[in-house]
Amino acid sequence: MMNLSGKHILLGVTGGIAAYKSALLLREFQKAGAEVRVTMTPSATRFVGSETFATLSRHEVAIDVFNEADPGDSWTKHIHWGDWADLFVIAPCTANTLAKLVHGQADNMLTSVALAARCPLLLCPTMDAEMIRHPAVQRNLELAEEFGFHILEPESGYLASGLEGAGRLPEPESILKTGNTILEQARKKGPLSKKKVIVTAGPTREQIDPVRYISNPSSGKMGIAMAEAARALGGDVTLLHGPISSELPAHLNPVKFQSAEDLFELIRAHADADVVIMAAAVADFRPETRGEQKIKKEKAETTLKLKPNPDSLAWLGKQKKSGQVLIGFAMETENLEENALKKLKKKNLDWICANDLTGDGTGFEHETNHITLFGDNIREEFKGDKSIIAKQIMRRIFGK
Ligand code: CTP
Repeated sequence: MMNLSGKHILLGVTGGIAAYKSALLLREFQKAGAEVRVTMTPSATRFVGSETFATLSRHEVAIDVFNEADPGDSWTKHIHWGDWADLFVIAPCTANTLAKLVHGQADNMLTSVALAARCPLLLCPTMDAEMIRHPAVQRNLELAEEFGFHILEPESGYLASGLEGAGRLPEPESILKTGNTILEQARKKGPLSKKKVIVTAGPTREQIDPVRYISNPSSGKMGIAMAEAARALGGDVTLLHGPISSELPAHLNPVKFQSAEDLFELIRAHADADVVIMAAAVADFRPETRGEQKIKKEKAETTLKLKPNPDSLAWLGKQKKSGQVLIGFAMETENLEENALKKLKKKNLDWICANDLTGDGTGFEHETNHITLFGDNIREEFKGDKSIIAKQIMRRIFGK
């Protein structure tokens, strides 16, 4: 069974009779663990209702460039969806859409996303045998290859016209297999290929006694998104994580920690990493003493004495090996730039992702975030879905 967990597949459906098979293809991608979104051309909706795809993908289907219901959304949606996708599969791909794609036309949402997307594109040309043999279509297929689009040849067999020949949409398994191979190839060619990447995520727990602890509401989502983004760029990722509720895929090689001290131990063991991304929300202090048994209220002090925790990131910064890239995170409620730059310098980091906690939909427990990335004379803002901005940040840092 193919494992596409954590992968974002954008499924493009164009106006051919094989569009009915795209619903099954969507299900197969989901069964392999991928998250799927669908964009359709207007003519594809003549073959299958968009509601079918919306229901199956549990997400709105993008068809029109101009969204009457939410005009502000229209201008950037194709960019966001293009950034969201790890792989764009157009199945079926008509002769008309193929022609538009190879000539840079973007007159609907599907073709606009195709131009904006940074991910690999897999085309499944599906049409009648006579059409596919036409020199114009053949020329366009050659052009598509020149542009680096991946093409899965149609299969031969019974066609909707009643004729026999090459033009059928390949079976879902075959499309999935090709998609998986393309993703693997892209990973191998990525800028982090053969690099050891350590990502930390989630909160620490500092025990007061066996039943009480000091912690914070970090969900680990930003760290997991960074880990996935590092892996998509080819990295050999190990995710060190605190107690979080998300299910973690095996390809992130998850290793659990509890306290800041446990994390420090792990960091020391992995100090040879080429890249370290410290997204964990580490407690700066822990209780001075830890009760062996549950502390009874009659015997409890009203003051909890604390002592400082080891700072893993500062330790890494102090003994940074040449070529190693250290990326820190900072949560700020005031003086974002000043505080972030101070931490960047003090901990000898290459990059710091600063979180402004004062805005809406940013920080702990949200799906979205607002991060300002600081590097050597660089200041760039990223706003939106954690999984999308993680990819943008990683591409910004590692150049792809
Ligand atoms: N960090 C760490 N070990 C600690 C504390 C923090 O490795 N004991 C890492 C975090 O994972 C994060 C960065 O350091 O990448 C945050 O820096 P820090 O100065 O600790 O930020 P704050 O805790 O927000 O500092 P302050 O309370 O001064 O704002």
